[in-house]
Amino acid sequence: MPDYTDQAALNAVEAQLSKYPPLVFAGEARSLKKQLAAASRGEAFLLQGGDCAESFDQFSADGIRDTFKVMLQMAMVLTYGAKVPVIKVGRMAGQFAKPRSAPTEVKDGVELPSYRGDIINELDFTPEARIPNPGKMLQAYTQAAATLNLLRAFSKGGFADIHQVHAWTLGFVESDAAGEYRELANRIADTLDFMKAAGLTAENNADLATVDFYTSHEALLLEYEEALTRVDSLTGQHIAGSGHFIWIGDRTRQPDGAHVEFCQGVSNPIGLKCGPTTTADDLKVLMSKLNPENEAGRLTLIARFGAGTVGDHLPRLVKAVQEEGANVVWSCDAMHGNTIKSASGFKTRPFESVLREVQEFFAIHRAEGTVPGGVHFEMTGADVTECTGGVRAVTDEDLSARYHTACDPRLNASQSLELAFLVAEELAADGRTKARMVG
Ligand code: PEP
Ligand code: CO
Repeated sequence: MPDYTDQAALNAVEAQLSKYPPLVFAGEARSLKKQLAAASRGEAFLLQGGDCAESFDQFSADGIRDTFKVMLQMAMVLTYGAKVPVIKVGRMAGQFAKPRSAPTEVKDGVELPSYRGDIINELDFTPEARIPNPGKMLQAYTQAAATLNLLRAFSKGGFADIHQVHAWTLGFVESDAAGEYRELANRIADTLDFMKAAGLTAENNADLATVDFYTSHEALLLEYEEALTRVDSLTGQHIAGSGHFIWIGDRTRQPDGAHVEFCQGVSNPIGLKCGPTTTADDLKVLMSKLNPENEAGRLTLIARFGAGTVGDHLPRLVKAVQEEGANVVWSCDAMHGNTIKSASGFKTRPFESVLREVQEFFAIHRAEGTVPGGVHFEMTGADVTECTGGVRAVTDEDLSARYHTACDPRLNASQSLELAFLVAEELAADGRTKARMVG
């Protein structure tokens, strides 16, 4: 938590935010929870993605559009593979605060407080920039409101037409490098043609022209979260008004900590990051605190262990969940356990490691007979060079070309879509296994 030095300024910002309209409404969070309940049973699949950290500097309509666009493409490919609805949740419209492993940072012998995200302080390496400024919460709120406004317009205003989404995807598979994904794309095209011939078009079926798109972020900055918490007039329960879905990070999931206590008190669907240091006992306590009624869809466990080590941790946590008979969605964050420093000095994530972690996650759920309910990626629709690999291979040497992230390295549009094709294959294989068991 930041040490705000100007208490009067902090109080004034909190007072102002608590008078502002909430960004999301309780009914929306309830529908998301219902869809996540379906994901916990394998009847839907969660796709959560977006920036590691949203930034004030890089805020633009094009940026929002491009990330939204690639998430729709991914969702379509995943829907085809999974044969169940894909729940689309952006790390957007509120993902501004970053947990840091160290409170300070040293550069050329100078030690300054760490950058904690644009909602708290600034990235520039100067003493002034690193002072936490409560006024930034108001700018974050404004940016989140504008982002949501555009996302809502894109979702319902015709931009999300299923035929258009597929046309964008064809652009990707046309390149020779992505040729291996052409067959699946063609099968989707055939399905769409068939639907059209059968009279199902976007003109006569709103479901083909619109999408539900939800927002999410880590509920890290409790001053912001509390000021935006409201009482749902229908149920009398508290609801975090800052986003539809909020999660607790790997560094702030202490069972008796403030972040857990805050999330206990709000009725949104919530996520809990589970890392290598999460013990089965802690998980059991956390599940009973965060979801005492064992409500399906309330709690998503976001596993983030790192490729090659999923097998060391996931089975014992799956077992803990089974011992408690807990209803959870298991999602795979294939990013945060796979960050390395490249030879060229950049923080990066190899595409192969991201893919491998997802594959290990699926394999373990297959072996345990449990449901792999979703995936969680740091990604952008922009053509950045932050993660290495993929069919349009980004090499170590390329990283400096377009490395724009405000925090962790993100998959670019091509890498994100390619991953969706590969995850779709995993989901399709799972579906065939289930069909054989039923048969
Ligand atoms: C994140 O999701 O950006 C993050 C910091 O993850 P974790 O808490 O899992 O490290
Ligand atoms: Co991150």
